[in-house]
Amino acid sequence: MAKILAGWGCAVTITARREGRLEELALALRRDFNVDVRWVACDLSERDGASRLYDDVVRAGEIIDILINNAGFGIYRAFSDIEWERQARMVQLNITALVELTHRFLPAMLALDRRCHILNVSSIGAYQPVPYFACYAASKSYVRDFSEALAHELADTNVSVTSVCPGGTRTEFIDVSGQKLGALANASMMDAHRVALVGLKAMLRRRRNVVTGIMNAIMCFLMRFLPRRAAARGAVAVLGKPERS
Ligand SMILES: NC(=O)c1ccc[n+]([C@@H]2O[C@H](COP(=O)([O-])OP(=O)(O)OC[C@H]3O[C@@H](n4cnc5c(N)ncnc54)[C@H](OP(=O)(O)O)[C@@H]3O)[C@@H](O)[C@H]2O)c1
Repeated sequence: MAKILAGWGCAVTITARREGRLEELALALRRDFNVDVRWVACDLSERDGASRLYDDVVRAGEIIDILINNAGFGIYRAFSDIEWERQARMVQLNITALVELTHRFLPAMLALDRRCHILNVSSIGAYQPVPYFACYAASKSYVRDFSEALAHELADTNVSVTSVCPGGTRTEFIDVSGQKLGALANASMMDAHRVALVGLKAMLRRRRNVVTGIMNAIMCFLMRFLPRRAAARGAVAVLGKPERS
C-alpha cells in the first residue's frame, strides 16, 4: 500500500517493528518515486504503542489525511494451545491499536478542509467463525463491524472509513500464523499488490467494505445463507486441522 501511495505521489509515514526493513523500504520509495517518506519503528502490540506512534507523528508536525491500519497477525492453532501472552498481543494489535489510532487521528482529520480516509484491513475471516483461527477471525469481525458502523457515523463528513477483507494473500502472514496450506487454499492465493490496490481504490471511492477477489466475494456473499455451524465446518475443510502442540 505504501508503494502504491508513493507511486501516486503521496508522502507516506510507514511503521512496523523491524527497523532495517522500514529503512530499506523508505529509501526505495524515495528513490523510485521522489516523495517524502518517514519511518517510525513501533511495536503496536504493546499497550502504549499506538500512543507513542501518534505522539511521534504529532511531534514531526505531520498532517495525516489517510490512515491505514494494516498491521495484524493470526495464529492458526487450537485456542487452548496458544500462550496467553501471544493471544493478548494479537488482540492488542488487531483490535485495540487499530481503534486507538483511529480515535487519536480522527479529530484532526475532521478539522481538515479536504477529503480524508481511514482504511482498516480486515479479512474474509470476518464473515464466518473460523475454528483454530478463533480469536484472529473474531478480531477481524470486530474490525469490519467497527469500520462499517463508524463509516455510517461519519457519512456526512469529509472522512470515509473502509474495511478491506482479503482472502489468502502471498505475504509473510502464512509463515507467521503457522498455517500449512492445502492445495485449494494454495491455488486461491492472491498477489499482495493486487489486494492493496483493490483496498486503496475502494477507499478512494468511499466504499464501506470490499472483499478482494471475485471468488472470495461470492463466498462471503453466500455465507449469509449458510448455517453458522456449517460455515465453521467448511472453514476447517478448506484450511485443514493444525497439529496439536
Ligand atoms: N496474507 C493473508 O493471507 C491475509 C488475509 C487476510 C487478512 N490479512 C491481513 O492483512 C494485514 C497485513 O498482513 P500481511 O498479510 O501483509 O502479513 P505480513 O506479511 O506478516 O505483514 C504484517 C505487517 O505488519 C507489521 N507488524 C506485525 N506486527 C506488528 C506490530 N506488533 N507492530 C507494528 N507492526 C507490526 C509487520 O512488520 P514487522 O514484523 O516488522 O513489525 C508487517 O509489515 C493483517 O492485518 C492481516 O491480518 C492477511
